[in-house]
Order: sequence, then C-alpha cells, then structure tokens
Amino acid sequence: MPIEQRVKIAAEKADLTPEEIEILSSGGGLPMEVADRMIENVVGTMAYPFGIAVNFRMNGRDRLVPMAIEEPSVVAAASNMARLMRDGDGIKTSTTDPVMIGQIQVLDVPDMEKALDALKDAKDALLKLANQQDPVLVRFGGGARDIEPRVLETEVGRMLVLHLLVDCRDAMGANAVNTMCETLAPVVSEITGGRVLLRIISNLADHRLARAETTIKKESLGDEKVIDDIIAAWAFADADPYRAATHNKGIMNGVIAVALAVAQDHRALESGAHAYAARNGRYTSLSRWSKNENGDLVGVLEMPMAVGIVGGATRTHPTARLALKLMGVSKANELAEVMTAVGLAQNLGALRALVQEGIQHGHMRLHARNLVVMAGAEGDLIQKAVNELVASGEIRFDKAQEIVKRLKG
Ligand code: MEV
Repeated sequence: MPIEQRVKIAAEKADLTPEEIEILSSGGGLPMEVADRMIENVVGTMAYPFGIAVNFRMNGRDRLVPMAIEEPSVVAAASNMARLMRDGDGIKTSTTDPVMIGQIQVLDVPDMEKALDALKDAKDALLKLANQQDPVLVRFGGGARDIEPRVLETEVGRMLVLHLLVDCRDAMGANAVNTMCETLAPVVSEITGGRVLLRIISNLADHRLARAETTIKKESLGDEKVIDDIIAAWAFADADPYRAATHNKGIMNGVIAVALAVAQDHRALESGAHAYAARNGRYTSLSRWSKNENGDLVGVLEMPMAVGIVGGATRTHPTARLALKLMGVSKANELAEVMTAVGLAQNLGALRALVQEGIQHGHMRLHARNLVVMAGAEGDLIQKAVNELVASGEIRFDKAQEIVKRLKG
C-alpha cells in the first residue's frame, strides 16, 4: 500500500484526530522546544522509521503494534509470525504485579545479625515512610510493599543490602523508587548502625515479569521437520551463551522497537532482560520452544518488563502518545504484554528464517527494493525490477540500474 493508505487505515482503526495524523508525517513528531526540555544541549532531533506491525491478537484482542526501528525485515517478520500465531489461538499474555526493586547499600555494619533483626522489626515504619513520599502512587493502588535485607560477600568485605519492593502501577518507577530509597537511607543507617552508600533502583526487575505464550499449528509451518529444527535452534541458544546473545538480540529487536515507539527507557529494558537471562549463573535464552502432544509448536517468553505510561518521555513525546493510542494501551501492564508478544513473534521469525532459507534472503529482497528505487524505479515497475534483481542473484546497485533502465525502455 502507498503510505497515505496505510495512514488512513491506521487512523480509522485507532480513531486518530487530524492533528495526530499530522504528527505521523512531521518527520519525527518532536518539536524542538519539547526536545529542548527533555535533555541538555539540544541542537536538533533525530527521526527513526515508525511502522506498524499487524495481525497481533493477544488474549483475544486485536492490536496494531507501532515499532520504531532502523533495521529492515523486523516489522515484516513480526507481522508474518503474528499471522501464524493468529491461525492458532493467538497469543496468551500475562504479567505479575508491576513491582520494582530499590537497593540501599549499607557498609560498616557493626553487628550483622542485630541489624537484620532490627530491619525486620522496623519494616512497617520503613514502608510507611516510603509511602509518604508518593501519595499519588498509593492513591492509584501502588506503593512500597515489602523489604528484603540481603548480606553480600564482596571484594571490600561484607555488606548489607536492603531491597525495597515497590508496586509502581502504571509508572516505570525509577523516580518513585529512587526517591523512596533516598528518604529511607538515614533511617536505615540509624537502624543498622552502618553507613549507607548507594540508593538506587535495580534494573533486574525480576518481580515485574511479563509472559507471552503461543501455540502454532504444525500445518502453519509446513511440516514437522521445521518444528523440530526450530526447537533444535532454540536448544542451541539454551545451551550456548554465544548463540543465546544473538537469539535474545532477535527478541529485543521486537521489544525495543515497540519501546522506542512509546519512548520507554530501553537501556533499562535491555539490561534487565540480559541480567534475567543470566539469573541462574549462565546466560541463556529468554524464550523456550517445545512441541505439544499434537506436534504443534509451543513458544513461551517470560522476561522483566519495566515500562511506564505515566510521566517521562512517554507523556511528553507526541509520537509516543500517539503510539499508545494506536496500540489501544491504557495500562503499563498491557504495554508490557504487547512488547513481550512482539518479542516472541520476532524470535520465531528469526528462528524460522534461520532454519529454512537463512536470514539474508528476506534482507536481500528489501535491499533490492531500496536499490531499484534508488535506480529510479517507480510504481508498478518497482516490483518487476525487484523480482528481476533478486532472480539475477547479483543484488548490486549497478545491476539495479541496468534492470531499471531496460524496464523503463
Ligand atoms: C538480527 O537482527 C537478529 C537475528 O540474528 C536473531 C537470531 O539470530 O535469532 C536474526
């Protein structure tokens, strides 16, 4: 479809206003004065392609999935795999409560046992003090829930680390959690007799997990051999960190593209995902693929998903607000579920391509398209030229020029 038609359909489905439609074609949708308030020393803005993955059905609901990414094939692969998933029962998604961890590091504790007991006794008072820092979060049903003291043996000796568990509801939570930790610090120091050093959120958000699961009918994938090969490809990643890093990169292609479209802290998501993938002492695959009793393919992805839809860039960036509307997301947990579903679809797309034609095939078709357009192809001629260029096996600019020149007559 031409871009205008895509925009028209998306606008109809998501009920976009003329102003919102305008944002899509404004070259990034971020006015300079907004950018200038977001970071320091702003001299411009930088746009990414913003596409929409289709066919996603999650818990019985269809959603458009906006993705911002510079890499070709990702949006197409997500959409194709979502179509296969849709032929089954779609994607089942869920989340835990959105609980983040804040860490308070305590050094020079004179009596560790006594300090641990004293912290346990002070739990209610600490939670109360933490919650006084964020009445709005508490009003929305969130707030500090628990404390977990831990003792760490380190290069500089033993230290006590107090975890503060905070239900962040629809916020990513870094601000709320860091404020709470900083407020608790002097009290924790007094209770333990130690010296508090760091007071900061942990990006290993292993209490805030999102899960996506899908079953793909064996007929949808051609034959059972493809399913066995996909499982063998997954087993490779499960067993080998060298492969797991690339396998998980494919998952993050999907997760981060959606994260960028809604202006999330994608560095937090990356570090959380990879730390979680190594939680048992060896870095491994975030996903798991297996076969059910019918011989169908079953995929599960569970990972930390620290996302927020209130505050931060998600609220200030016009395109991010628009992306949330396109997705029909009104809760942070829903966003987390969409992102995990896209991660799972992306993972399947990569595995399916890798066990069959290889990853370059799809990339090269898109590359061929770019080349023929650069060589001057327009309209119907584009597809014809792409087909010829791919068939020639020489996907280069000079070849594209030769083909386009001939087809133009
Ligand atoms: C490329 O961006 C992602 C893949 O390498 C992922 C994978 O190997 O599973 C194709």
